Amino acid sequence: MPLQITANERHAAIVFKEKTLAGFKPKYVKGAGRIGNPASVESGGSQVKGKLMAESFYTLKWEKKALFLLDQRVLPRVEVVRRLTEPVGVADAIITMVVRGAPAIGVTAAFGLVLAVQVARRKKRPWRGAFDEAATLLAATRPTAVNLFWAIERMRNVASGLPDDPSKALLRLEQEAVAIMEEDVAANRAMGVRGAKLLPKAACVLTHCNAGALATAGYGTALGVLRAAVAAGKKIHVFVDETRPFLQGARLTAWELMKDRIPCTLITDNMSATLFAAGKIDAVVVGADRIAANGDVANKVGTYGVAVLCKEHKVPFYVAAPLSTIDRKLRTGAAIPIEERDSSEVTHLMGKRVAPEGVDVYNPAFDVTPARYISAIITEKGVIRPPFSGSIRKLFG
Ligand code: MRU
Repeated sequence: MPLQITANERHAAIVFKEKTLAGFKPKYVKGAGRIGNPASVESGGSQVKGKLMAESFYTLKWEKKALFLLDQRVLPRVEVVRRLTEPVGVADAIITMVVRGAPAIGVTAAFGLVLAVQVARRKKRPWRGAFDEAATLLAATRPTAVNLFWAIERMRNVASGLPDDPSKALLRLEQEAVAIMEEDVAANRAMGVRGAKLLPKAACVLTHCNAGALATAGYGTALGVLRAAVAAGKKIHVFVDETRPFLQGARLTAWELMKDRIPCTLITDNMSATLFAAGKIDAVVVGADRIAANGDVANKVGTYGVAVLCKEHKVPFYVAAPLSTIDRKLRTGAAIPIEERDSSEVTHLMGKRVAPEGVDVYNPAFDVTPARYISAIITEKGVIRPPFSGSIRKLFG
């Protein structure tokens, strides 16, 4: 049977997420390898108790042939880790945002493919078919962040040259997924060093969404730049947009910064203009989900508005993203697919309805900031400036 998530299951997963956030005890969502609720333990997504926060925390970990994900749906209220052993559980974790953030979902998908081969070997089935089915399933989870497709493609390229022996294939694919994970952290650290130099010795920096350790394999893109600036002795104060509707800023960025004792102030998204007008923002640093060949940037919805404010108030607007986020196949941002998410994210707050029943809702998860608003893009290979078409071409040259 091919692995599939039906429309009903997808909807159930969204409702499930909402109920989890509301603090209810949701029913187990049916299907092999589905993610359990915080109190449940089952094969596809089990809870690991007492294993948290080794250094500060980890977003994802590959250990003893299983993928461990810190469940971001319930942060900061609950810190719980999910143990995943099947690709369908991994796909479910991406759809329901147990794990989110462009680089993090790419790394997660790579391990989802390793798990597919592992399961096939255990069940004595040909690994290639299982790999292909899982690749199709994982590619259908979220459409905007290109890192997902980039990681699947990289794993596919490796898989195409591997022998039929499942043990040999598994070993090599596991190595590749680990490399993708480790390269992501290294890229973030390199971006941090380069990006930190752009910030003044003392600065108030605004960020939108969560482009931190939680959105990557570790350290973060935008927050990596801020972490590196603090490590270099700069006095950084971060203004954190709460990031409606999923609240990645309020729930995740504020949590991460506080864990690292980086001074921060949480604001609602509609307050940032007031801060710009008062001259309180010295720079903006955000992440990206996909960057087109001309430098247009898709990132969490609301980013474009912040960029426009930067232009008006002559504040630099920086985007920090690894090369794996740049999609040179797309000429401009107009071609970037924008994910629309369930209306309940807008009509409900923490599981409680705040809008009238039946109201029409529009819920795009991302917007596109035209390249002309961007002061620089910070990558692991260098900081590039406009005109981006040329500087992006050179970066890959
Ligand atoms: O919907 P999300 O939470 O996956 O969206 C994430 C973002 O928009 C991040 O800002 C982006 O992925 C950059 S993360 C390094």
